[in-house]
Amino acid sequence: MNLEDIPSERAVLIPLRAEDADDLAGLLEEQQLREWLSVEDLDALRARFARWESRRSPDGAETWLNWVVRESREGRALGWVQATVFGESASVAYALLPAERGAGVASDALRALTRWLHDRLGVKTLTAEIDDANAPSVRVAVAAGFERTARRAGDEVVWERRLSH
Ligand SMILES: CC(C)(COP(=O)(O)OP(=O)(O)OC[C@H]1O[C@@H](n2cnc3c(N)ncnc32)[C@H](O)[C@@H]1OP(=O)(O)O)[C@@H](O)C(=O)NCCC(=O)NCCS
Repeated sequence: MNLEDIPSERAVLIPLRAEDADDLAGLLEEQQLREWLSVEDLDALRARFARWESRRSPDGAETWLNWVVRESREGRALGWVQATVFGESASVAYALLPAERGAGVASDALRALTRWLHDRLGVKTLTAEIDDANAPSVRVAVAAGFERTARRAGDEVVWERRLSH
């Protein structure tokens, strides 16, 4: 699949490559993010991003799409967004560098990603798994039109956005 840049209001989502690890090293400052990414250091982050460049899950069943979120004009890295696509469904995840939070970039990026997944890949149902204690992430999901469901995934709650036609 040919991924493309996705412009959003405040930033641009650019298909992630191994070398973006250097600009996103700040994600490793937080233990929770190190756990999500299953990496402890920059070399491992670079190796993970390199594997993601295949855009496929190891069994080939899912499309794994990742973007680096960059400031539109100067290209400064702000964070990362991910979509795991299976048929007409996709699950999404997002994180900003700690220094770049608080400006609404994640909400903006998630809205742009949602539109792109629907328009370009025909995705009709998006989900995000969010801990109730993660207030910023809950706000981001709400701002991108997701609704809380009664479903759980481990300790997290499944949020969902359905898109018509
Ligand atoms: C979740 C995350 C991406 C949000 O990034 P962001 O763009 O900086 O989001 P903001 O700081 O603009 O906050 C979004 C909303 O949460 C609110 N918020 C921020 N910090 C908050 C806090 N501690 N308590 C309550 N609300 C908070 C903001 O006021 C904003 O609300 P608004 O949209 O009504 O203005 C960022 O916090 C992050 O990367 N966290 C670590 C990774 C993570 O948790 N990812 C989500 C996994 S499900």
